[in-house]
Amino acid sequence: MPGDEILSPEEVAEREKLPLTFVDLDRTVEACVGESVLQAALRHGIHIEHACGGFCACSTCHVIVEEGMAALSDKQDDEEDRLDTAVGLTLRSRLSCQCELRGGPVKLRIGPHR
Ligand code: FES
Repeated sequence: MPGDEILSPEEVAEREKLPLTFVDLDRTVEACVGESVLQAALRHGIHIEHACGGFCACSTCHVIVEEGMAALSDKQDDEEDRLDTAVGLTLRSRLSCQCELRGGPVKLRIGPHR
């Protein structure tokens, strides 16, 4: 499922769930396996900037993973290239539109984007 499109209630109902914590918001939501971090956030009304609509063409959806990096899909070359332009880049940075949840729990912070 590309971009910033969110799962339908039917899709949510049939998927395995995992806890996804936004540390800076002190909030944990129930995310779905196969969903991107951006999609899970938007589905729960959590705002993450996503200027390109979730297509790996900006770096505004930057997040910093505190726990659960191994539970996310691997970084691809496009994401690596885009991350190089992210403000406040760290070794634990990901683009939330590009990392799919494979398991959990995952804890992260929303990164600076300006
Ligand atoms: S929203 Fe643009 S790279 Fe994720």
